Amino acid sequence: MLNGKKVLVGISGGISAYKTPMLVRLLIKKGCDIRVVATDNALHFVSELTLQTLSSYPVYNDMFCRFTEKTTEHISLSEWADIVIVAPATANIIGKYANGIADDALSTTLLAFNKQVFFCPAMNCNMYNNFAVQDNISTLKRRGVQIIDSEQGELACGVVGKGRMAEVETIVEEIENYYKTNDDFINRTITITAGPTRESIDKVRFISNASSGKMGYEIAKELLRRGAKVNLISGVTNEKIEENNNLRLINVVNAQQMYEKTIEMFEKSDVGICCAAVADYTPIVQYDRKLKKQEQSLIIELKPTKDILLELGKKKKKNQVLVGFALETDNEIDNAKNKLQKKNLDFIVLNSLNDKGAGFECQTNKVTLIDNEGNVEPLPLKDKIDVAKDIVNKLLKCF
Ligand code: CTP
Repeated sequence: MLNGKKVLVGISGGISAYKTPMLVRLLIKKGCDIRVVATDNALHFVSELTLQTLSSYPVYNDMFCRFTEKTTEHISLSEWADIVIVAPATANIIGKYANGIADDALSTTLLAFNKQVFFCPAMNCNMYNNFAVQDNISTLKRRGVQIIDSEQGELACGVVGKGRMAEVETIVEEIENYYKTNDDFINRTITITAGPTRESIDKVRFISNASSGKMGYEIAKELLRRGAKVNLISGVTNEKIEENNNLRLINVVNAQQMYEKTIEMFEKSDVGICCAAVADYTPIVQYDRKLKKQEQSLIIELKPTKDILLELGKKKKKNQVLVGFALETDNEIDNAKNKLQKKNLDFIVLNSLNDKGAGFECQTNKVTLIDNEGNVEPLPLKDKIDVAKDIVNKLLKCF
């Protein structure tokens, strides 16, 4: 799995740096070609000679003294590597990378690198729990950095808590897993709806909802990472997704537009995933000017929109998979099971609005996965990035 991979190991200045030579050794045993970049502080904890001897290459540390023939070292190294693993990642390098600071060999190389980065945080538990550090870790996660999380245990400062660098075997396992899942969805096309719809009242006003689109975008990103071709049909959101040859982003505004595009795209897809919060009603009359204020009350008459997921369920062919969401406030499991059956789904993702940290406008979600074989799988509260991974793993089992 890792044979022949070019791995750049970044070391920042934490006591766990004493474990990094073992990581280098293990990666070499797996067939990786290794280069090491270390901060000045890292070299207080681990010897340059050890790293150099293990990797068979000089350790890159001083930005201002060595140049390759063609270019500066942080550029040539960042072009050379397939992945970068920062182990240990101190609060300092996490903060620098999250904020685009480049003031030494490691941080500069990281900014110049545009492929997969892994960070293995290691620090005192109070530092780890600090809001600034947690915010920086979330920022990195959102940008696609894979965090190989710290473990609970006895720390170098003598206290017991979360902050210990993951064991080197765990780090290697996570990297192998990353490569293992890369081709999961190759040759599969997946159509996803995301975000809210806007139903126009007049030229400047509309009816909508608080959906951020985050869940659908995170699912799209995870599927792209795992080799899928994705049609993302998105309502108006602030979410961003990097350009990718396998991505077709189709921006729509209202339920009718979303309906038309989704029906068209699903026809040639292997999977449909409806995450969008589609308006169930739309104004019968939509004025093409701004309505003036009037003395008497204003009545806006609404008509139902088309249920996109229901229509996909009717059109679904034997070899297609269909996934829906259900947002419920009461009788959650029964309501979700009814939707699953009525809309002819393979599985449904239930969000309960009663769960703290779940649903609209937050970074976390707490969902239950219910499939058409009767399995009900409640999952703990997680970052939407990790919920997306769970949903995609469940999807993989449908083939
Ligand atoms: N959905 C859809 N088109 C609609 C309404 C809903 O595709 N016009 C999809 C949503 O994307 C979601 C699922 O149907 O995957 C369930 O949406 P939800 O709002 O929970 O349920 P509804 O079917 O609209 O029923 P209700 O609002 O009565 O709960």
